[in-house]
Amino acid sequence: MTAAPQPVADRIGSTWQEMADLHDPDLPGWSRVAFTEPDTAGRHWIADRMRTAGMDARIDAVGNVIGVLPGTAPSAPAIVTGSHTDTVPGGGRFDGVVGVLGAIEMVEAFREAGVRLRHELRVVDFANEEGNPQGVMLVGSRAISGHLTPQHLAATDAEGTSLADVIARAGLRPEEIDTCRWDAGEVAAFVELHIEQGPVLEQQGASLGIVTRIAGIENFVVDVLGRRDHAGTTPMNARNDALCAAAGTILAVERLAASGADSVGTVGSLTTSPEATNVVSEMARVTGEFRSPHAERLAELRDRLAAATAEQDAAWGTESTVRWGQVDDPTPMDDVVSEHLLDAARDVGHEAVRIYSGAGHDTVQMAHLCPTGMIFVPSAGGRSHCPEEWTDLSAVVDGAGVLAQAILRLDER
Ligand code: GLV
Ligand code: MN
Ligand code: MN
Ligand code: MN
Repeated sequence: MTAAPQPVADRIGSTWQEMADLHDPDLPGWSRVAFTEPDTAGRHWIADRMRTAGMDARIDAVGNVIGVLPGTAPSAPAIVTGSHTDTVPGGGRFDGVVGVLGAIEMVEAFREAGVRLRHELRVVDFANEEGNPQGVMLVGSRAISGHLTPQHLAATDAEGTSLADVIARAGLRPEEIDTCRWDAGEVAAFVELHIEQGPVLEQQGASLGIVTRIAGIENFVVDVLGRRDHAGTTPMNARNDALCAAAGTILAVERLAASGADSVGTVGSLTTSPEATNVVSEMARVTGEFRSPHAERLAELRDRLAAATAEQDAAWGTESTVRWGQVDDPTPMDDVVSEHLLDAARDVGHEAVRIYSGAGHDTVQMAHLCPTGMIFVPSAGGRSHCPEEWTDLSAVVDGAGVLAQAILRLDER
């Protein structure tokens, strides 16, 4: 099959630099946390870049930026690509950004080469992929797939601010969430270009990965209720120390996740009350997650965490409650789309390897609507969600080239 037009390295390099410049100067790294000012600026900048590249661009009610390039066969369902440009606090310059800018560069290259697609092409910068203190990841793609629920919007952070409030404060319209939704019939396939965020490709000396499956993720909040007491006068055997029980739960999460090779578990935050050195803790809140490629393993971890918190309660005389928040099933990629991606890589001179994704992606939500696939480019040292995150420009250009080739292949179907 004929080769897709090559992405232009200089152009993708300079758009990447401009995007990186739109970060929060008050946070470490290259932070563009969802629904903050730099994120809003980035959203409008991306919409402008899409227009410059020849697309119609609009921003929907939750902040997804959607660029559309009409096809020559108006009744054909759309082929969709994209990723996100929000970051974790203190994050890097590549996670998500590569998939959005790579797609825009592909459209530029198509235009310059006079390539017209049969299918409509949509390029999406999904809002708030990274999650938030309310504990909801993939907000924009959830809205598009119809899986952003009133419960998600009502979820609150530790100060009681809801996700809906945060979205509204960014000038968006969470009450119009239903208008964000797409029908499955509108879309033929979704492909996401992304950095690997782990060390596997580099260790294997592979230039590209095609994703087999994306981890299932289950978030939990454990609230532990103990009794506040005087730290000097309460004997050690007469305490109901919420923080000690929480410490046992945190270590149990680590032990449970490490008890099999196919799971990871993390407690990312701990809050206690009253947070005074000379008071036995009355309350502790532990928030974390388990991830695994296997739904059965996640179910087992859920049960075992419940048993572990009960053990802590028996030991400390506390009362723990476990709440499960966002639950996303492990998501296999579509075999046919993945074959197209492997062939597309070969067309442009790369032998891509198959790879599992432990990171979550907007693709998980798009898989509710249509067949999906993902292209990974290597991450130096496997580092991600940190300022040191790095992928060589040449690898970004290679990834965008494979994306372009894959879109041409999918357009022929
Ligand atoms: C998001 O990047 C995640 O995988 O947690
Ligand atoms: Mn990402
Ligand atoms: Mn991320
Ligand atoms: Mn992610």
